[in-house]
This record gives sequence, structure tokens and C-alpha cells, in this order.
Amino acid sequence: MSLLSADLALGRQRLYFHTSETMPELLDRSVDVVVTSPPYNRGKHYHPGYSDRQSQDAYLSLLDRVFRECYRVLRAGGTFFLNVGDSGTDQGKAESVVRTAQGAGFHRHQTLIWVKSLLGRGHFTPVRGERNFSNVFEYVYVLVRDPPPRLNVLRVGIPYADKSNVGRYRSSDLRDAGNVWFIPYSETTGASVKKGHEAPFPVELPLRAIQCVPGAARVLDPFAGTGATLAAAEALGVEGVGYEAFPRREVIRRRLETLISVPPVILLPELERAVRTLGTLLPPDEPGGGPALPPGARWDEARSVLRRLRSEKGPGGPAPPTEAPRQRQRPGA
Ligand SMILES: C[S@@+](CC[C@H](N)C(=O)[O-])C[C@H]1O[C@@H](n2cnc3c(N)ncnc32)[C@H](O)[C@@H]1O
Repeated sequence: MSLLSADLALGRQRLYFHTSETMPELLDRSVDVVVTSPPYNRGKHYHPGYSDRQSQDAYLSLLDRVFRECYRVLRAGGTFFLNVGDSGTDQGKAESVVRTAQGAGFHRHQTLIWVKSLLGRGHFTPVRGERNFSNVFEYVYVLVRDPPPRLNVLRVGIPYADKSNVGRYRSSDLRDAGNVWFIPYSETTGASVKKGHEAPFPVELPLRAIQCVPGAARVLDPFAGTGATLAAAEALGVEGVGYEAFPRREVIRRRLETLISVPPVILLPELERAVRTLGTLLPPDEPGGGPALPPGARWDEARSVLRRLRSEKGPGGPAPPTEAPRQRQRPGA
């Protein structure tokens, strides 16, 4: 990979601002993981110069060219996490996209479901009218170059809620978290648009994907968008390469300048129990409700912690990565 020619370089991340139909900067079999979300071809507004409404043939043949390049640069045993969703009124697109990837040579190993919103938590784009249910999930296809896949699902595992299960299936108190990933958006699409991009995925999605590939040292996102995959790679200390044909440089730069902390193990059952207990201990929200405050009690503080846990990290979802401004020198851009 020619590092000097990168259009944007930050930490271990390199971006090339041209189409990923050819990736001359990458050698054959030089990448361990691909994580990406291709354009939706649904009229999204990624960039003033890009039309996200092409004919189905033109759209799929673009993806075919990019997926063939991904196949070329992925190492033997490498893994490709392909995120794509249908919309409420546009069903079946995801299937045609994954079939295109299979046509490019990939073996379809497993389908994960990424749930964006559930029971009022998280955001999604609502369909107009009353004839369709809104789409609150997307697919993450796990594709491999050469089966069998090498995945370490326990790396993003969770402890057993019922400890009597420890030893029944595995000796340690850790089980895989299942094929449904609940990663709610913390803000609406409208807010994302205002931030500069219409279709970013939450950083936790690539974070989880990269983590379960043993020995992942180099990650590729051929449709880098805001740079979410590269932000996850940076947080994990992994080298990342992104391609983006219609870059919003400042959006990407801001994203990469934000340091993300990686949640160690997802302590979901413990978190749920703690939030439930805190909820029963706290007096009701209404003014005057609940017991008299003991001296020094900070109910307001406790209540705001509880609210934060419920809305951002609460039951039903793992703690999202936290973000803080990056305080360090940029090596170059
Ligand atoms: C769904 S978005 C990816 C969003 C990204 N996952 C994120 O979280 O920010 C798809 C991106 O692909 C870009 N794109 C479209 N055609 C491209 C091409 N031929 N080569 C590289 N990027 C392209 C679009 O500009 C858009 O930013």
C-alpha cells in the first residue's frame, strides 16, 4: 500500500478519495476484514455530485466491480461484513446485493440482523402512508473468501444471565450474544444529515465486526462515507483503509479526530439488573413524590444517571462506544 499517496491520513487510517471499483493501492490478499455499507440506490443524499438513483443494472454492476476488488484484496480466510437493508417499500434489494457479492466469489456464511430500533428505543426512517411497516432492521451478511470462516464470536460475547448455565455449554461465564445485534441510533437521520451524511452506521457495528475476526490487522471499507469503519479500526489499534468517491472531507476528518473507547465485555445482564434496582430505589419523577430526601441525597443526579442508562446504554442494548475529542497530533493529511 502506498501510504504517501493517501488523500487523508490520520493515525493508522488512510483514505483514498476515488471510486473503489479499482483499488490499485492495495495488494492482492492484503486485507483481513472488509466492513461496508454500499450506497442504497434509494435517492439518498450522500453528496451533491452523486446520484443515488441509478437503474438496478447499473447499480448492481457497480457493486459487482467493487466486490470483485474486495475479493482480490481479502486474504485467504478473511471476512467480509456486508451491511445492507431493505426499506419499508423497497423489499428484496438486500438480497440482490448479497447475491452480487456471491457472484463476485464470496461464500455466504451467515446472516446477522442489525436492529436499529426496538420498542421505542433507537431511530429509523418511517415509511409514508399506512400500508407498510417501517423497516427497523438491516442485514449484515457475513461473507468469507474461503470457507471455513475464522470467527471468534466470544470476543463480543456476554455473560450468562442464569449462571447455572456456566459449564453446561462452555466452562467460562461467557456466551455468544446471538445473531441479532441491537445497536440503536442515538440520533435521527435528520440529525445525521445535519452532521453531513445521510446514511452512516453506528461505530459499534464495525467495532463488533472487526473484533470477532481473529488476528485482524488491516480493515477495508470501500464505501467509507463518514469513516465510521475507520474510526472503529482506530479505536481497536488496527490499520484501516477507506475509499470514498464523494468525500465530505471535514465530516470524515471530524469523525477520525474523535477518539472512541471500546467497551470491554458487554455486561448486559448485570447492567439490566443494576438499572432495574436503581429504578425501584428512586422516588417517582413527579415533584413532591417519593420519600423525603435524606440529608445529602442527590436524587436529581441519580435520576439523571438512570435516564442516561435507559436511553443510551440501558436494558436491551450493549453500551455504545463513548466518544471524546481526540487530543493528539495528526501525523499528516
Ligand atoms: C451508505 S454510505 C456509507 C456510509 C458509511 N458506512 C458510514 O457509516 O459513514 C455509501 C457511501 O458510498 C459512497 N460511494 C458511492 N459510490 C462510490 C464508489 N464508486 N466508490 C466509493 N465510494 C462510493 C457514497 O458517497 C456514500 O458515502
